[in-house]
Amino acid sequence: MLKPQENERITRVGPGTPMGELQRRYWIPAALSSELPERDGEPLRVRLLGEDLIAFRDSEGKIGLVDAFCPHRRAPMFFARNEECGLRCVYHGWKFDRAGNCVDMPSEPPESLFKSKVNITAYPTWEGGGFVWTYMGPPGTMPPPPDYELVRAPETHRYVSKTYEECNWLQALEGGLDTSHSSFAHNLDIQDKTFLRSRDTAPRLEVERTAYGYTYAGIRTLGEEQYVRAYHYVMPAQQMRGRVSGRKGGMEQVPTINGHIWVPIDDTTTWVYNWMYSYTPDIPITHDYAVEFETKYGRGPDDLIPGTFQLKRNRRNDYLIDRAVQRTLTFTGIEGINTQDMALQEGMGPIVDRSREHLGTSDRAIIVMRQLLMEAMHAVENGEAPRATDPSTYSTIRAVDLTIPRLAEWREALKDELVAKF
Ligand code: FES
Ligand SMILES: [Fe+2]
Repeated sequence: MLKPQENERITRVGPGTPMGELQRRYWIPAALSSELPERDGEPLRVRLLGEDLIAFRDSEGKIGLVDAFCPHRRAPMFFARNEECGLRCVYHGWKFDRAGNCVDMPSEPPESLFKSKVNITAYPTWEGGGFVWTYMGPPGTMPPPPDYELVRAPETHRYVSKTYEECNWLQALEGGLDTSHSSFAHNLDIQDKTFLRSRDTAPRLEVERTAYGYTYAGIRTLGEEQYVRAYHYVMPAQQMRGRVSGRKGGMEQVPTINGHIWVPIDDTTTWVYNWMYSYTPDIPITHDYAVEFETKYGRGPDDLIPGTFQLKRNRRNDYLIDRAVQRTLTFTGIEGINTQDMALQEGMGPIVDRSREHLGTSDRAIIVMRQLLMEAMHAVENGEAPRATDPSTYSTIRAVDLTIPRLAEWREALKDELVAKF
């Protein structure tokens, strides 16, 4: 439970808010690289942390990310021409390069120095892992670019996508970090009446704070074995999970590391960036595999409203819940694992009222995450660097999802599996 003031503090992300300032200390995804496919191509609208921006790939192939409105008379830069290493406003022709410098001002006399005094707000960008990342904080505290194993993995071995979510980023992140809901919300076989009682639905939980956030392990004893799922929470809003090969959810799985990064569009909408990479050098991620996988999660190409990253099953049609299916087949009656998540997270309202919740022992991951975010907001307010800004704290981590003998100590038994190889 949080006091209403604490809930405001931890959820709002606009400029000058405590959480907004914290988020601005990290590199965060601004777009998928595939959204800006070609040099001098169409500009792209980007809304991030409550700021309206325009992204463009310039003639050198580098990405500019600038204010959505021209500093002259605030015309929309979305309609600008992307030409010769800059974006030219079509109202009076002022042109800006990716660093935000005004490089041409044809509406002023040639001898005018006004050009050198005007800039458009521009944020630095960096491309890697299929993402365009940006840093929106003070220049003096800009960390080195992100160095996850994902960004080092070969392009043939990774897949990234994004989904639009209509609620505050924090409740979406909480849904990802909360492992205990998967036995319920994502149960696909309600005929198996035993699932609520005899399965080990209450795993032993370990949360270990680290320099990047925490490692969370859920350990279930299954006969002579222990099933260990250890994921990482990487601040401010990323989860990294492991996945083993084998048949799961009706498909043959490639062993991958996968996860999500939840990026606030503003206080009440969120981009969920989904990523995965195969860590087995001779098993790439094929396009067909990625489509099958994404579809199982409810976010495949046919699940999206064409031309958008919004789900066809969404809050305006109650996610096409099928009550007959709910009575006879699945727990939720909603198709697609992430669609089930969306229904629950968006259904809480734009910003969930955390003063009215009742957290139990299974909510420890969420409690520790909130503590870490609160501490990090304080750190920024005190002029200190928050956790996970130094890439060396997270660059070698990997998550696991494996079975080990019942009496083994999981960290020791899985030591090698927990280290990045790319
Ligand atoms: S408003 Fe953009 S050049 Fe005038
Ligand atoms: Fe879920």
